[in-house]
Amino acid sequence: MSTGADPRLVAAAGSLRGEIRLPSDKSIAHRALLFNAMASGSAEVTLSRPGADVLSTVEALRLLGAVAAVQERDGSALVTVRGAGRPGAAQLPAGARERIDCGNSGTTMRLLCGALAGRSGATATELVGDGSLSSRPMERVAGPLRAMGAELVTLDGHAPLRVLGRRPLRALHHDLPIASAQVLGAITLAALAADGTTTIDTPAETRDHTERLLAWLDAPVRREGTRTTIEGPAGMRARSLSVPGDVSSAAAWLVAATLHTDAELRLPGVSINPTRMAIVDVLREMGADIQVVSDEPAGAPSPSSPEPVGDLVVRSAAGLRPISLGGPPVASLIDELPLIAVAMAAANGVSELRDAKELRIKESDRIAQVVRHLVALGVDAEELPDGWRVTGHRGSRPLPLAVTTGGDHRIGIAFAVAALTGLSGEATIDLPDCVDVSYPGFWNDLESISGPVTAAAGPVR
Ligand code: S3P
Repeated sequence: MSTGADPRLVAAAGSLRGEIRLPSDKSIAHRALLFNAMASGSAEVTLSRPGADVLSTVEALRLLGAVAAVQERDGSALVTVRGAGRPGAAQLPAGARERIDCGNSGTTMRLLCGALAGRSGATATELVGDGSLSSRPMERVAGPLRAMGAELVTLDGHAPLRVLGRRPLRALHHDLPIASAQVLGAITLAALAADGTTTIDTPAETRDHTERLLAWLDAPVRREGTRTTIEGPAGMRARSLSVPGDVSSAAAWLVAATLHTDAELRLPGVSINPTRMAIVDVLREMGADIQVVSDEPAGAPSPSSPEPVGDLVVRSAAGLRPISLGGPPVASLIDELPLIAVAMAAANGVSELRDAKELRIKESDRIAQVVRHLVALGVDAEELPDGWRVTGHRGSRPLPLAVTTGGDHRIGIAFAVAALTGLSGEATIDLPDCVDVSYPGFWNDLESISGPVTAAAGPVR
């Protein structure tokens, strides 16, 4: 996303204390909106501080005629979604030719491909995105949907895309070469319009929000380990829900408080879905003090939502151990890896990340971006083809840092945390509004928990 705001200066805080209510989980929000738009009936989706990516999905559904109303209150939005599905037939409204701008949002574009693939009685829909989204690979979703009978045209494998739906689609078995929840979600949505049983295997477990929410809306979908099964054709019933806080946004404060010597933060109402909690496990393994407080048994949905919800409490760590990450767990950490790199840079020894080459095709090449910024702040860091090697930075004087985000929200947030904890010296973050993609209000939250620097307090060393 492009922004005109001045660079933001971030300095080490004297302490980090307080409570932060996070924006609604981005992955769950996209799905709550889109799936209700394909269901029969109507529902209200309550979103706290929706970011630009989620607003791209709201706008797409408005263009398709599925948004009846949006009420905004104190930064939250209550979206009334009117589903176009019928009993036994999940579908988006059949409209005229449309052009939908997905902005920076890969999830909007890829999930829409799947939802549009099974739409009948419509002309083609064009999906476009910003510069970053237009450089990201789309054949990974177009290929399987074509195999099911939909017509998708990409521009050399990229957006703009043209999608012409068909009904019924063909049920198939897919063996996905990459553990992508977006691609899995797209095929799952198309499978609702297919005749027969579709099975999808992924090489590692991905976030399971698609399956949880579809099942909660009464669609015949199940996840068993790395296999998702859908019995088509199927419909679902619209159902209102309130989307809990985003654990990927919580990760900023989990890392910040872990690294700072004088910190205690409480993060209420966060989604604690087990397929997203690897960030907590990894930080704990490094030595973090994080508590998950929930009345519900681990992984159980709450009465108002298919997703388990809890509070996270994090306090300063006594010291941080290095860690080696690789293999299947990397897929469940994918959005948190830039922040984990910042934690690795504060650990006592050599840490490594492997099997994360997907990071090169996110909103920016996050392997190159992370390593470039770690080196600039004086850390011994090295790029690997599929990850990085980082030698923890101990004792040396922190260097000032000029962060060039390339408009990537996760890079801006990760290196703001590095400066806030004193791992780097003062940092200027360019294009600071890029954080609004996932975390509007990030800078206000940062200020609200930051105490002034005193002689007694300081960053972890
Ligand atoms: C997402 C899946 C992940 C993640 C993205 C959100 C989702 O992408 O990086 O921020 O909501 O399904 P991939 O599916 O490309 O791994």
